[in-house]
This record gives sequence, structure tokens and C-alpha cells, in this order.
Amino acid sequence: MSGMTTVASLISPTVPVSVTLDRPLKLGVMASGSGSNFEAIAQAIADRQLNAQVQVLLYNNPGAKAAARADRWGIPSVLLNHREFASREALDAAIVATLQQHEVEWVIMAGWMRIVTPVLINAFHRRILNIHPSLLPSFKGNRAVEQALAAGVKITGCTVHLVVPEVDSGDIIIQAAVPVLFGDTLETLHDRIHTQEHRIFPYAIALAAQAQQHSKS
Ligand code: GAR
Repeated sequence: MSGMTTVASLISPTVPVSVTLDRPLKLGVMASGSGSNFEAIAQAIADRQLNAQVQVLLYNNPGAKAAARADRWGIPSVLLNHREFASREALDAAIVATLQQHEVEWVIMAGWMRIVTPVLINAFHRRILNIHPSLLPSFKGNRAVEQALAAGVKITGCTVHLVVPEVDSGDIIIQAAVPVLFGDTLETLHDRIHTQEHRIFPYAIALAAQAQQHSKS
């Protein structure tokens, strides 16, 4: 049968829907590792697909590749190593202070691997977005891609959602679905999910901000 090897992807709502923002968004991005989602956001801004500016990148692991990406984009980066804080709340208080210093309006958790507390969530009420590598509410928490493989599901994907105190549970902004293919490994499946994450995250930021700007007007 022809077309057997085509990997289709489905995004809901379908991209592109035109998103108009009153003014550029001031973003603070938080990342723990590679930062490929951070890079996709920076690229979407450079390509004028997202009317925004990244004010600062926060990262918690020394040596995170995300920091090198920030340097290449000329974006300031700040290391807040969670190992040096007495509690999650103390770390989050430092995060809030740093974000406020950089005049951040929207907080973008792009591969941030720490649970956040009401200290951060209340300071940026309904203005924190997270990306998660599953179709929530399936496979919350750590190792979501591994969980999907182990469960034997045939479709999985990624979700951008608002952050609330309960992990991976806030309002869903946008999702993309990908197939799980015969012979997939953790790496091949995560690569396929990453490709969709990079497409939906900039769009989700614009959608969420637009919804909020319109609800105020
Ligand atoms: C992404 O797949 C993201 O969905 C996931 O970490 C990866 C970060 O990739 N986040 C979580 O699992 C959060 N629970 P990146 O550093 O290349 O953007």
C-alpha cells in the first residue's frame, strides 16, 4: 500500500489560525536541559511568527545546553541551581525575583524539570505555560514518553497547558498527536514528539496571551 511510511501529525486546534496580539509579549523562559523548545520559540520570534521578546532564560542545571543557546541568541541567562536552595519555595522565590527584575509578563516552562509551588504560580496567575510530552491527562509526571511506550498506546503527542499547583493539570491550550510506530524506541518517539512541540509551543503562547488580552478588553 502506498503512503504506509508517511508519518501524519494532527494538531488541535489546527495551525495556523491567525493570532493578533496588541503588543509584543515579554517572555521569561525556564529550561533544565537541551532547550530545543526554547530555541524554537526564539526562532519563531525571529521569523515574526510570534510577536514577543525573550527577556531572560532561567536554567537550573549548570552546563544545560539551553544556556549556550541563549548566548548564541544574545538572550541573558541566569543559573538558579536548585541544589543551592533549602526548599522548592526558596527556589521559586528567587525565580520570581529574577523574572520580575527582567520585567517578564509570561513564564514559559520549556523542559523545566522541577515541580513549581504556589510561590511562583500565584506571582504569575494564569500566565505560566508548560509543555508536556504526552496527550494530557494521560501520562502525567516524569518519563511521560516512557510511560506511553510501556502502556502500548498507538497515539501519543504533546500538550501546552496553563500551570496550576496540581502537576500537569491546568487548562489545555493546544495539543498535537503523533503515532507510535512499530519498533519505536524512546529516542525515535521523543524525536517525533519534539518536532510537534516546536510547532505548537510558539503558537500556544500567542493563543493563550490573545485569549487573556481579549478577556480584559
Ligand atoms: C520536552 O519534550 C518537554 O515536553 C519535556 O522535556 C523535553 C525538553 O526538551 N518536558 C517534560 O517532560 C516536563 N515534565 P528541550 O529541552 O529540548 O526543550
